[in-house]
Amino acid sequence: MIQPGDTYVVMGLLDADSIAYAIGKGIEQRGGHVIYTVQNERLKKIFLDRSDKLSEAEKSALRFEYCDVLDDQQVAGLFERTGPIAGVVHSIAYANPKTCLGAEFHTDAVDDLKTAFHISCVSLATVARHAHRHMPDGGSIVAMTFESRLAFPYYNWMGVNKAALEAVVRGLARRHGRDLIRVNAISSGPLTTKAAKAIPHFAYLARIWRKVSPLPWDTIEDKTEVAHAALFLLGPYAKKITGQVIHVDGGVSSVGGDLLSMERMPEQQAEAAVLGETPDLST
Ligand SMILES: NC(=O)c1ccc[n+]([C@@H]2O[C@H](COP(=O)([O-])OP(=O)(O)OC[C@H]3O[C@@H](n4cnc5c(N)ncnc54)[C@H](O)[C@@H]3O)[C@@H](O)[C@H]2O)c1
Repeated sequence: MIQPGDTYVVMGLLDADSIAYAIGKGIEQRGGHVIYTVQNERLKKIFLDRSDKLSEAEKSALRFEYCDVLDDQQVAGLFERTGPIAGVVHSIAYANPKTCLGAEFHTDAVDDLKTAFHISCVSLATVARHAHRHMPDGGSIVAMTFESRLAFPYYNWMGVNKAALEAVVRGLARRHGRDLIRVNAISSGPLTTKAAKAIPHFAYLARIWRKVSPLPWDTIEDKTEVAHAALFLLGPYAKKITGQVIHVDGGVSSVGGDLLSMERMPEQQAEAAVLGETPDLST
């Protein structure tokens, strides 16, 4: 778990729905200090300032820095300002939904693909390159991914980026073992956030989870469970874990096919029957 008094940089805060915020809150509840990063002042004004899920007191208690990961100098400057840290959470991704996601996989928008790759994948290495010097006693870097061994509808090129991000996690784990810095990713099931809402037909992805997940999956409440896994990976109980992708997805990545009626919890059986989602063994 989190070491009280240690400082963690949590990158990718947009609003109170961000996975970054759930992780940061968990760190603070356990006595850690959090420095959030927000992409730029404009986005902060649009989303964070307008968020009615946070009180004015909560907003003014947030310590944050601006950092656009497309700009190497901004990433370098960020870690010069933070001082010594115990860990970093990389909770950042972007792909133009019009060209990189959606009904058609094929696209000729190569510049959009490059930007998506830079932000969603390469930036993890940029962050590690600048952050590692500020973790003198070792530390932990945690990235956020989504099941990338399977091709999901509409997720298209973000799926490609997530597969690449997981490869970067393994490369960085190898590179930074000598620094006692661990690098891992959490593969989360679908959660309701701004980025998720930008995925065309996100509800369809969520429906897949409802049909397939051995454990019930809640796209709002389970953000806390994802945050718990991040706290574990950031802290000393995960001291010998590196280069891994830990699935916090209700088990979807481990099974094939829809859950049968008899495999569901009783209350889920009734709901699934109403939605016509449960295959009937007798037919
Ligand atoms: N929401 C989900 O269902 C889900 C599932 C699995 C993994 N993830 C991953 O979790 C991470 C966080 O996403 P979220 O769902 O909390 O959404 P979010 O929209 O709250 O967070 C995405 C963040 O990326 C930041 N970002 C985009 N471009 C950037 C840039 N150039 N520089 C700096 N920051 C930039 C945005 O400003 C935002 O803060 C992403 O990597 C996402 O792919 C999300």
